Amino acid sequence: MKKILVTGGTGYIGSHTIVDLVQHGFEVINADNHSRSSRSILEGVEAILGKKIKTYQVDLCNYEDTRAIFQENPGIEGIIHFAAYKAVGESVEKPLLYFENNLHSLINILKCVAECSIPNFVFSSSCTVYGNPDLIPVTQSTPQRPAESPYGSTTKMGESIVQQTMNSLPGIKAILLRYFNPVGAHPSNLIGEMPIGRPANLVPAITQTAIGKLAKMQVWGTDYNTRDGSCVRDYIHVSDIAHAHTLALEYLMENKNSSNCDIFNLGSGNGFTVLEVIKTFEEVTGEKFNYEIADRRPGDVEAIYANNEKAVQELGWNCKYTLEDMMRTAWDWEKKLAGKI
Ligand code: WQD
Repeated sequence: MKKILVTGGTGYIGSHTIVDLVQHGFEVINADNHSRSSRSILEGVEAILGKKIKTYQVDLCNYEDTRAIFQENPGIEGIIHFAAYKAVGESVEKPLLYFENNLHSLINILKCVAECSIPNFVFSSSCTVYGNPDLIPVTQSTPQRPAESPYGSTTKMGESIVQQTMNSLPGIKAILLRYFNPVGAHPSNLIGEMPIGRPANLVPAITQTAIGKLAKMQVWGTDYNTRDGSCVRDYIHVSDIAHAHTLALEYLMENKNSSNCDIFNLGSGNGFTVLEVIKTFEEVTGEKFNYEIADRRPGDVEAIYANNEKAVQELGWNCKYTLEDMMRTAWDWEKKLAGKI
C-alpha cells in the first residue's frame, strides 16, 4: 500500500480525508498536535475504518520532531498538509501566532519533503485567496485580491511558498486545493465538525442554535446586491472535499499533472444565499430556530462560488452530496454531539 502522511488529520477535513484515503487503499500516518482538534475524532475515524491509524502527536513547528516522523517511516510517497490555524477572527487578534504557526509548520514539512525527496505534496488552500471577486463563478485564474485577514495572508503566502519550493525540487510535484465552504458530516455520523467555542461559520451556528446550545444566531447582512440580500457562498460536503484529496494524490502518482504545482477549485459550482441555507435546513429537518437579521460582518465577501470544471475534468471529481444532504448530516451530527441520538 502507498504510504501517505496527513498533517492535521484529526481536524474536520483531515479526518474525513483519512477515511477516504484508507477506503481507497492507502496506508495513512497522521501527525497532529491536537491543539485545535479532539482525539475523539480519531476514535471515530478508526471506528468507521475498523482499524487503528498511526498517529504522532507532534508540533510541526519543531523541526527535529517533524523530521523524526520521516526517519521512523521510510517510504512515504505523498503528503497532504492540513495542519494550520483557520479562524479568521482569531487571526486578526493574534496575527503573529498565525504567521508563526502556519508558515513555520509548512516550512518544516517542506524541508522534509526536500531532504527525503517525497514526490507528491497536496496543500490545503482556500477560496479566501480570491477575496471579493468582480466576476463569479471564479476559476483558478481569477485574479487574487489582497488578503482580508492574517489567516488569508498565510494561505496566500503558503501557496507561494509551495509553488516556489517546487520549482527548486526537480521531480517533486504539488497540488493546491482551494476549498470553498466545507459543511456537513460523514454519513456514518461518527465524525463531523467540532468548532471550538462559539462557531463563526454559518452551518455550525445554525445547528447549535437549533439544538439549543446557542440562544439565537444572527444573519449578518441582508442588504447585499444578491437575490435575497444575504451573502452567497459555495457550500460543499466535507466528504466530497475529502475524496478530491484522494483523487489529487492519484493524479500526481500517475504523473498526470500539467505542471509542478497544479491548482484546483473545490466547490460544488452552486451558490446559495445565507437565507436559502437556513430555509433548506428548516425544510430538511423540520426544525425552526431563532435567528435575527443583523448588520453586516466586516470583511465578508458579498458573493463567491466556484467554477469547478478543472477538478471535474482533470481529477475525475464529482460532487455526490446535495445541500439537503449537507444540512441533514450536519444536523444528525449536532444531535449526536448533544447525545440526542
Ligand atoms: C458564510 C456566510 C456570513 C455565521 C469561510 C471560513 C473562513 C475562510 C473563508 C477557511 C457569511 C454568514 C455566518 C453566522 C451569518 N476559509 N453567517 N451568521 O464567510 O465564507 O468564511 O471561508 O478556509 O475560515 O469561515 O464562511 O461560514 O463564516 O459565513 O450570517 O452566525 O454566513 O456572514 O455571509 P465564509 P462562514
